[in-house]
Amino acid sequence: MNGMPESKQADPCVMVIFGATGDLTKRKLFPALYNLAIDGHIPETFAIVGVGRQELSSEEFRGQMAENLKQFAELENSSNDISWFCERTFYTGGDFDDDKKLFSDLKSLLSEVTASLRIPENYFFYLAIPPALFADVARKVVKNGLGRQENGNWRRFIFEKPFGRDLQSARKLNANLLKILKENQIYRIDHYLGKETVQNLLVFRFGNSIFEPIWNRNYVDHVQITVAEELGVEGRGGYYDSAGALRDMVPNHLFQLVTLTAMEPPVSFQAHPVRDEQVKILHAMKCFTPEEVERSAVRGQYGAGRIDGRSVPAYRGEESVSPDSNTETFAALALSIDNWRWADVPFYIRTGKRLGAKHSSIVIQFKKAPFVLFRNTPIDRLTTNRLELHIQPDEGITLHFGAKIPGPIVKMGPVDMDFNYVDHFEEQMTTGYERLLFDCMLGDATLFQRADMVEASWAVVSPILDVWADQPPEDFPNYSAGSWGPAKADDLLAREGRKWKNSD
Ligand code: BG6
Repeated sequence: MNGMPESKQADPCVMVIFGATGDLTKRKLFPALYNLAIDGHIPETFAIVGVGRQELSSEEFRGQMAENLKQFAELENSSNDISWFCERTFYTGGDFDDDKKLFSDLKSLLSEVTASLRIPENYFFYLAIPPALFADVARKVVKNGLGRQENGNWRRFIFEKPFGRDLQSARKLNANLLKILKENQIYRIDHYLGKETVQNLLVFRFGNSIFEPIWNRNYVDHVQITVAEELGVEGRGGYYDSAGALRDMVPNHLFQLVTLTAMEPPVSFQAHPVRDEQVKILHAMKCFTPEEVERSAVRGQYGAGRIDGRSVPAYRGEESVSPDSNTETFAALALSIDNWRWADVPFYIRTGKRLGAKHSSIVIQFKKAPFVLFRNTPIDRLTTNRLELHIQPDEGITLHFGAKIPGPIVKMGPVDMDFNYVDHFEEQMTTGYERLLFDCMLGDATLFQRADMVEASWAVVSPILDVWADQPPEDFPNYSAGSWGPAKADDLLAREGRKWKNSD
């Protein structure tokens, strides 16, 4: 059931979506709400209020929502489920810059909705809007009396990523939000934490006793984390060209994977203890000097190439991208986590668009056996142990080890032991947002980023962004669409005698 805690019940509430006619709402938020409702996790007394720039009636908005659900959700029993949603959905439109009209209309609509559907005034506001508007919209909500938690009612705010563009802007945004909201009202979302396989990292590490004793510098040679996409910028060229791969993916999604892989066991599985351990890893990550950026960070941009047998254009030829853009579509880093557990164990991370396959994984590469007993095995067949956690697709876990090849001479060959999610559990339709929306309704912020985590992440990434901005790349485009990134990313590992594990 979407990994939701079975016994918990969300409070009756209203979800207010700013950016209700946007892409995220139709592709992710509505399907996620639908999946939650099908699984019985949405309270009967619930409503959605969409807020957008377009002037639409609630009726028109319901029509759009029904169409979107048909397109983007896996509908089970379509008409009944959709009408359940439509009865509970409302809309108000207007100019977000206008201090008064839109927000007072919203206030009146919320009063009507809560009175007619007998919903207590518990609201959560989802800001699926450009980050530059976050603080302003939140301020206007609060100014109109909608942010105050009183009479036992709660008010929560979910902010989509990106949360800032660098350390300075993230600090400013946190400071501005904390002037009007309490930290426990702020939910900074990172949809990677909604993925089952990402949550499973904690269960795998801390719910089993056999892995933790070897999960450290004594046994682990290095860690590789890859988030590779086949897709290009898919109509988001305007945003992406001002962001780039490093900003778009690293301080958020990739660092979540790093922290969950590297953190110490928390004292309990609650918001503060879990995030306290994650933030310690972020603080232990070494910030690069300009020389280290040169040595340990690689950027790339795709040129034209072929993916799945079809030709795709170069990044510089994508819609809304400048023809001489220097924005990176690939980033790889060799990170050091300077603490007792991980000293001298490199964490190699990489992400990019238009790579050879959609493939996200965490690879724990263990050290070689101390002594080679099997003299008849050629060196390249000597197996080192590798644990691969497949985040997506083909979610599962593979342990790679050596076995005796049958025959009269003792020879060793590599084999795999596989666990595949779909073989063991019913297949679930999730967008990654179900668990996070549900947790927000419960008031559980464990899977959301805290202010200090966001700032600690930017503190690692900002020096790299600064060096890259100062020194425009000379070799872009430096990888072909459909490849595994620039040659320099391979060199990053090859110079230490290591190699990326690409998907087969
Ligand atoms: C988003 C990025 O946060 O994550 C996108 O802005 C990226 O550029 C996406 O494509 C990847 O998410 P997923 O769930 O498809 O791996």
